[in-house]
Amino acid sequence: MSDMTVTAVPEPTLRVEALGVNFRGVQALQDVTFSIPADGVSAVIGPNGAGKTTLFNCISGVARHVGKVELDGRDLSRVRADRRAALGIARTFQTPLLISELPARDNVLLGAHARMRAGLLGSIMRLPAVTSEETALRARASELLELFGLPPADRRPVDSLAHGDRRRVEVARALLAEPRLLLLDEPAAGLGAEEASELLAEVEALAATVGTTCVLVEHDVGLVMRVSRHVVVLDAGRLLVAGSPADVAADQRVIAAYLGDDWSEVEA
Ligand SMILES: Nc1ncnc2c1ncn2[C@@H]1O[C@H](COP(=O)(O)OP(=O)(O)OP(=O)(O)O)[C@@H](O)[C@H]1O
Ligand SMILES: [Mg+2]
Repeated sequence: MSDMTVTAVPEPTLRVEALGVNFRGVQALQDVTFSIPADGVSAVIGPNGAGKTTLFNCISGVARHVGKVELDGRDLSRVRADRRAALGIARTFQTPLLISELPARDNVLLGAHARMRAGLLGSIMRLPAVTSEETALRARASELLELFGLPPADRRPVDSLAHGDRRRVEVARALLAEPRLLLLDEPAAGLGAEEASELLAEVEALAATVGTTCVLVEHDVGLVMRVSRHVVVLDAGRLLVAGSPADVAADQRVIAAYLGDDWSEVEA
């Protein structure tokens, strides 16, 4: 036996503990504790108003909360949002936030903001590349678009793209910084079942390529159960259950409170 040690990535990637958020009397999250294993796609599900977006806001550092958020064993509770981004937490928003007049590739390049000095980003989009870092970022942005089946040289405003392609551009932008943890808030919202399924399959493949742990919010429970490694169920701000898709689908509280008739679609 060699005495070489294998450096294992600590598992889990993300842990939240006793997380709570109160918006002037509305208890959006209460005593939420769970872990997300490293790598692959995991999901947060729950009815409207369950606290899914608020949870992402806590993890990315934009919502004030009690309790703890840990990434790879490091407590980030007192770390500001911009610093959390620099430490490898990226996200997309429930409502798309693209710069409508800019082409897809420039929108993807905006994803470099978490890691770049102010000013450099503007020059990257307007001027010829000067540093090897700029050249590498442009190449990476093009590559991500290509992996999503989008032509990187397309200079049309991103607004003229189909809805599903705009959602792809958003995910590509979040992946540009090669985040450790990627939070996707309803990336397939507004897409039909088939296109949603295609998009999530692409996200799964890309997250694996980049080595990102991906957590997504998605309302199509059947789809979630198919793509996810781990599922967290929220209900009215509380954790109902967290576990493998099979465990979650078999949980009587989930069936009663959330899955209802849908649950029969899930292969437990
Ligand atoms: N900024 C805010 N101020 C006051 N209340 C808020 C705020 N943001 C969210 N809430 C409330 O917190 C609760 C959780 O909202 P949240 O948006 O996190 O739910 P969600 O699970 O993402 O819902 P949806 O599926 O509709 O996106 C809701 O009752 C919501 O009205
Ligand atoms: Mg939401």
